Amino acid sequence: MDVSDTDYFDLLTNKVSKLSGIVLDGYRDKYLRRRIDLRMRVVGITDYKDYMRFLETNEGELAALIDTLTINVTEFMRDKTPFIFFKDNLIADIIERKQKSQSKLVRFWSAGCSNGEEPYSIGICAKEVFPEDWNISIYATDIDEKCLKNASEGVYFKDKIKNLDYMLRHKYFEKSEDTFKVKKIQNLSYRFKRYDLTNDTPVSKHFDTVFCRNVMIYFNETQKVKMISNFYDSLTKGGYLIIGKSETLPPEMRSLFEPVSIKDKIYMKI
Ligand SMILES: C[S@@+](CC[C@H](N)C(=O)[O-])C[C@H]1O[C@@H](n2cnc3c(N)ncnc32)[C@H](O)[C@@H]1O
Repeated sequence: MDVSDTDYFDLLTNKVSKLSGIVLDGYRDKYLRRRIDLRMRVVGITDYKDYMRFLETNEGELAALIDTLTINVTEFMRDKTPFIFFKDNLIADIIERKQKSQSKLVRFWSAGCSNGEEPYSIGICAKEVFPEDWNISIYATDIDEKCLKNASEGVYFKDKIKNLDYMLRHKYFEKSEDTFKVKKIQNLSYRFKRYDLTNDTPVSKHFDTVFCRNVMIYFNETQKVKMISNFYDSLTKGGYLIIGKSETLPPEMRSLFEPVSIKDKIYMKI
């Protein structure tokens, strides 16, 4: 029986799923092919069958492929305006609601946090606005262990923090020769954890805001719906969901959220 290129592609993605524990069904086929082809070009292989063999016999190749599949591009205050909106508008509303329930604990989730620039940006915005004695807890998750390790170390080159002015750099980072290390700040805590948005069960509840920016562009519709409904369950009533500027909520999820800023893709759980 002739095994087609598509069959080998399916065998290959099954193998990668099995070896890595990452469920790839959530990724669009076209996206997976493009990224795997890219990796194959790097190692000089042109067909999926040969690449499968290469993957089995070369230690380190699986990690390299996962790296290619889960693009980690990010920076502090990426796109700027959603963070400005969060800082100038959403936080005031969160403070008002918390005061009603006499709570001084605020919880944020950065889902698909990459190397940590997003959760630390959330922390900086929050610290700039919330009263000093409030506890700000930031949960940061990603599927990529290497990213999580970088994120928890919190050390960045200058190009990653170009959106931060001098005052913020000085207040939130310790500068050494050519890097900036995130400072420990009182009443601001971060927790980094591996979490697959297309597969794992909801992490926790009562988040005041979930940031999931520039992640679902890689997912198919079914996975997007599953992920957004998990976010819905994880948010407190009236909590906010912030997605990437080029992303949209799946149509069947739109009745669950009220748009707060169409431009910045910010929604409130109804
Ligand atoms: C382009 S980065 C976005 C980083 C950040 N949210 C931002 O907007 O700058 C996409 C991140 O999503 C992560 N990712 C991809 N698939 C994932 C999945 N199934 N579950 C969790 N994270 C995933 C990648 O590892 C990567 O770090």
